[in-house]
Amino acid sequence: MLQFLLNDKTVELASIRPTLTVLEYLREHAKLTGTKEGCASGDCGACTAVIAEPDASGQSLHWRSINTCITFLPALHGKQLITVEFLANNDTLHPVQQAMVDHHGSQCGFCTPGFVMSMFARYQQRQPITKHEVETVLSGNLCRCTGYRPIVDATLAACEQSTQSAFQTDKFSDAEQHILNTLTDIAPNTALDSVFVPANHTQLAHYRQAHPQARLVAGGTDIALESTQQLQDFPGVIYLGNVAELHQLEAGEQGLRIGAGVTYSTMMPLLLKHFPDLRELLERLGSLPIRNQGTMGGNVASASPIGDTPPVLIALNATVRLNNGTQVRDIPAAEFFTGYRQTQMQTDEWIESLFLPYLPDHTQLRAYKISKRFEDDISTVCAVFKLTLAESQVVSLATGFGGVAATPVAAAALEQQITGCTWHDNTTQTIGINALHNAFSPISDVRASADYRQTMIVNLWRRFWMETQKDHPTLTRVGANGIKTVTVSDVATGVVP
Ligand code: FES
Ligand code: FES
Repeated sequence: MLQFLLNDKTVELASIRPTLTVLEYLREHAKLTGTKEGCASGDCGACTAVIAEPDASGQSLHWRSINTCITFLPALHGKQLITVEFLANNDTLHPVQQAMVDHHGSQCGFCTPGFVMSMFARYQQRQPITKHEVETVLSGNLCRCTGYRPIVDATLAACEQSTQSAFQTDKFSDAEQHILNTLTDIAPNTALDSVFVPANHTQLAHYRQAHPQARLVAGGTDIALESTQQLQDFPGVIYLGNVAELHQLEAGEQGLRIGAGVTYSTMMPLLLKHFPDLRELLERLGSLPIRNQGTMGGNVASASPIGDTPPVLIALNATVRLNNGTQVRDIPAAEFFTGYRQTQMQTDEWIESLFLPYLPDHTQLRAYKISKRFEDDISTVCAVFKLTLAESQVVSLATGFGGVAATPVAAAALEQQITGCTWHDNTTQTIGINALHNAFSPISDVRASADYRQTMIVNLWRRFWMETQKDHPTLTRVGANGIKTVTVSDVATGVVP
């Protein structure tokens, strides 16, 4: 029996279609139509709702926003789903709703329930908020008519209220212990006809062997598109989010071990502590609701050539740990991808975790993502460089590229030719440019032409070389209105010709 709380009502389902999304369930089965469908692909935020579940301590609830259009229903097992219909207290609007009214944050209203739910998830943290964080909180919500300034103002005002003692008690905080008790009473595992929710490795191994055709789903932010965009049916789904062993997150002596079920939002504080240069890439990985659902394990398993994290893992010389219930094997990320959307994972295996070795001394890491939109978009080209120097000499260069081949890849010839060079010599930059000119044969598609991709690969290399020079030069040029200062990044990426 699949069990969850829909607002304050217990739901028990004995049979569901494996690819039934939370959004479909809400609108077509539960008849809760406040949650809207816009894109059905995790891009617009109209479908945003909030999941509440016990936090790591088990003593209080943790709230996070999700895109219900790309979340399959099994992900709700043992959790509470809160929809926009539940926020108001009888005739009194919730403070986030009232703030939207007060700040004129809605016009046609189609996007409004999604914005309100993103605001509500942040409101529940009851912590002060900065304007920059508001942008992150709302990064997954698009509005075609109001403009964002009133909505940003409403979010700032509502979250400020949430820190004031007068609002510490409301129907959500009053009910928290009851919700916790209810959720804790639900067994974390269940099995329906073609939907399986294991709670540990033993159960996962059993379902994997008994139902090899069932698709493994972690966050589901990519695999769900096969259903919502390509209208494919799945023979079955094994939901990985409740498998306890997949949630390990450890900083060891040699590196980080990240369980395949850990969401980006959960791993980011630790990941950025050890790899601060990944901040921009991670903050541009989807939107907050995507990072609240998505996992690095899922990103690796789906093996998309434009996935954001595989180039990082290849450059870091990370390893992918596979498990089949009786044995584990560790495979270097560079060898894991065997073809377009193909990997070394066998039909009885799953990704258990990823191991990211720490950077050696005197090492610099840069990760560049080029996409049509700055936020909430998949990459056109991704390039990651890891450079280790001894004085000025290159001890090693490791790379990872996305969007240039059928799989994420390293540029072996570039790495080989640059090793041993004097980094600050201009000839080193030139050697790299020449090595990258013919390193890959990217394709043309809706995101970019092959020529564009080829040009970007070389330009990102130039940018990396410039940014890692001793004096990190800033260039100037004379514009129509006088001298304009531009950064080396602007030049290298072609913003300034
Ligand atoms: Fe657009 Fe879900 S409907 S993100
Ligand atoms: Fe119309 Fe936002 S108010 S889409």
